Amino acid sequence: MAKTRTQARCGQCGHTESKWLGQCPACEAWGSMADEAAPRPTPGSLRAMGNGRAEPVRPARPIREVPLHADPRMPTGLAELDRVLGGGFVPGSVTLFGGAPGAGKSTLLLQAADALARSGKRVLYISAEESVGQVRLRAERLGTLSDRLLLSSETDLDVVAGLVEAHGPDLLLVDSIQTVRDPDTPGAAGGISQVRECAAALVRSAKQRGMACVLVGHVTKDGHLAGPRVLEHLVDTVCDVEGDRHHALRLLRATKNRFGPVGEVGCFEMTGQGMTGIADAGRLFLGELAEGSPGVAVTLALEGRRPLACEVQALTVPTKQVNPRRVASGLDAARLSLLLAVLERRAEVCLREHDVYASSVGGVRLSEPAVDLALCLAIASAAGNRAVAHGVVALGEVGLAGELRLVAQIERRLAEAARLGFSRALLPAAYDGDTSGLRLHRAAGLAEALAVGLG
Ligand code: TYD
Ligand code: MG
Repeated sequence: MAKTRTQARCGQCGHTESKWLGQCPACEAWGSMADEAAPRPTPGSLRAMGNGRAEPVRPARPIREVPLHADPRMPTGLAELDRVLGGGFVPGSVTLFGGAPGAGKSTLLLQAADALARSGKRVLYISAEESVGQVRLRAERLGTLSDRLLLSSETDLDVVAGLVEAHGPDLLLVDSIQTVRDPDTPGAAGGISQVRECAAALVRSAKQRGMACVLVGHVTKDGHLAGPRVLEHLVDTVCDVEGDRHHALRLLRATKNRFGPVGEVGCFEMTGQGMTGIADAGRLFLGELAEGSPGVAVTLALEGRRPLACEVQALTVPTKQVNPRRVASGLDAARLSLLLAVLERRAEVCLREHDVYASSVGGVRLSEPAVDLALCLAIASAAGNRAVAHGVVALGEVGLAGELRLVAQIERRLAEAARLGFSRALLPAAYDGDTSGLRLHRAAGLAEALAVGLG
C-alpha cells in the first residue's frame, strides 16, 4: 500500500513546504505552518482511475457528441448586473463577489435574490455575517420581501449543506465565505484552510445539484480578496464591486468569467432604494468645472465594451523639495511618473521643481494607456495655466519617444464623444477612419498634440 505523503502548509499565506518549519519562508510568520496530506502524485491518481472505484470511469468522448444544452441562464432583471454576468446567473456555476466592506455587495445581492425569487426561482440567502433580523430590516427598506426568498444566518458549513438539501434552491447566496466554518477543518473561520475547504465544498455542491451559487468575499485594503486568492481559481466568475463610501457611484466589474465577457462594467448608484442601475453613464465622470479651467482634459475610457467619457484633472505646485511629490488618485502612479519624464524630454514641459497631483473624477479608476494623452494634456494645461481648447477629447497612448499610439475601438469612443456633444478629438496620426462627426486633429507626437490641444 502506498504511504500517505505529508506536506506543511502556512495558515496565513497558503505557502507549502515538503516538511514542517517553525517559520514560513514566504510570509515569515512564526508557528503558522501545519502538516496536511499532500496531494497524490499524478501518475498514481491516473492509475487509481477505475481501480477499486465503485463508479465506472466514464470514457472520454468526441467533442461533437457532448450534449449541447440551451443557455439556461437565470437573468435577474437588474440590467447592469445581467450585463456584467453575461445574461444572468448560470445554474451549476459559482460566482465570487468581491469588494471592500460597505461597497454594496449585500445590498445588490439581496436585490438580485429578490428579483429571482419573484421570477419563480427558489433562493436561499445564507447571511453568515448579519443576523436575519438585520437582513429583514434592509429588505424592508428595499422592498425585497418575496415569499420564495429564504433566509438563514447559519455559519456552520454542515448546517448550510443541510439547508441546501432541505430546500433545493436554484440560487444559493453565502454572505460571506469568510464567516462560514467547516467543522472538519481546523482553524478559525476566515483562515485560508477554512475558506478554501468551505468554498470547495460549495463549488462541489453547486456542480452536483446544478445550483447557481454566489459567494461574497471581502477585499483587503490592497485590493486582494482577503487571504485566499485561491478562491479565484475555484470559482467560475469573479465580480468586484468598486467605489468608496464618499461617492454614491459603484462599478461592478467581471474580472473572470467562464460564461461571459470579461471586463464588462455595470454602473450603479447607491441610493436610499439600494443599488440603482445607471444605464447611461453619459456625463457621470465629467466634472462640473467652469468652461476654460486649466488642468482639465477629457478622454473616453473603454470599460468592457462601454465607452465612458472621463475627466482627468492635474494640479502642479512649485516646491523646493528634492523629491517633489507625485500623487495619483484613480490613475496609475507609475504611469504618471513615466508620462512626466516623457513630457520633460519630448515636449519641454519640465516639472522637476513642482509637486504634481493627478486625479480622475467621480471615483472611477482609469488604468488604460488610452488615457495617457488626456493626462499629459491636463498636466501641460495645469503647468502652463492654459485651459484645454473647448469641446476637445483626447485619445492616445504615449510612447517613451513621445510618439502617439493608436488605442482599441476608437470609433466606439468617438461615437460616444459625439453623442455627448464634444466637437473635436485629438488623435494619433495613424488613425485613418472618419465616421464620428467630430473634427479630428491627428498628431504624430506629444508636442504637436499639446500645441493643438492647448491652442
Ligand atoms: P452593504 O451592501 O452592506 O455593503 P457590503 O455588503 O459590501 O459590505 O452596503 C453598505 C452601505 O450601503 C452602507 O454604508 C449603507 C449603504 N446603503 C445605502 O446607502 N442605501 C441602501 O438602500 C442600503 C441597503 C445601504
Ligand atoms: Mg455585506
